[in-house]
Amino acid sequence: MTKSSVGVWSLIGNTPVLPLHFSELDQTIWVKCEFLNPSGSIKDRVAAYIIEDAERRGILKPDSIIVECSSGNTGVAMAMVGGAKGYRVKILLSEGASPERRWLIRQLGGEVILFDSNGDYTTGIDITRQMAAEDPRVFLPRQFENELNVEDHLTTTGQELLKQIDGPIGVFVNGYGTGGTLAGVGKALKEANSACQIWAMEPAEAAMLGGEMPCCHHIEGIADGFVPDLMKYATLDGHIKITSDEARSMTRRLNSEFGLLVGTSSGANVVAALRLAKEQNVEGAVVTLLCDRAERYFSTALFQENVFDDEKAVLS
Ligand SMILES: Cc1ncc(COP(=O)(O)O)c(C=O)c1O
Repeated sequence: MTKSSVGVWSLIGNTPVLPLHFSELDQTIWVKCEFLNPSGSIKDRVAAYIIEDAERRGILKPDSIIVECSSGNTGVAMAMVGGAKGYRVKILLSEGASPERRWLIRQLGGEVILFDSNGDYTTGIDITRQMAAEDPRVFLPRQFENELNVEDHLTTTGQELLKQIDGPIGVFVNGYGTGGTLAGVGKALKEANSACQIWAMEPAEAAMLGGEMPCCHHIEGIADGFVPDLMKYATLDGHIKITSDEARSMTRRLNSEFGLLVGTSSGANVVAALRLAKEQNVEGAVVTLLCDRAERYFSTALFQENVFDDEKAVLS
């Protein structure tokens, strides 16, 4: 394998920040456009960070197989970065993950292994551990427990935000999958301004920090059925519940009014940011992330329940 120091991974990060003005509420929310990362989500960052760290430490060999459990976005990102660097990539995906993610992983040269999760990713994580125990070529990035996931957001996403936003950041709110983003960005922002509030957004149907049982929600990419280990590094000022319906309608607004082709968790993040801007005593900018792209959700209710009048006319 001939290795190049530049490749698709060089396009990751340094994503732009946009102010979104909601005139009816007289509120401006600052959003970092993580959906512009090359595979379409914030997860490109952690995939590149962990793979490059393993390369530097000589852990990854030409015959290594990268094996990761993912709700989809990390799988796509690992398939992109790992594949472009010449490694075999196998992704454990829950049967519930949208087919677009499976297709993207395969299109990027990765292999998909589906498991029956009943909404709980610990099953998939256990399978990856078993695969590593049986085959020494297997490399596990372990996104749910790897501290590099936090370090990445502390040293990249968080520092970028501090440079991009003029004046203090008063609130940062985001959903969590592994908790790496909340922990890393939160640490960077609190180090710069100890008054900055860090909030976790959770689906109302699976608000585990809020003491509720994990249940069926439709904010894909977050709240995988357990509170991940990395959340212990997140210094939170609170958690806020957003329903799947609220998330979906704001996502459609972001898509059709603002021209931002983002997925459902981005809508949920913006609803949470607007609510905190109104209800909390915020000194400084209210900031959140647009985590992934809308095209990942063609087969989900975000698009399927959105049959437009002109299509109905053609169909009837
Ligand atoms: C689609 C999506 N992926 C990933 C994340 C964050 O992931 P993590 O907690 O694993 O850093 C979010 C958070 O809102 C998200 O919406």
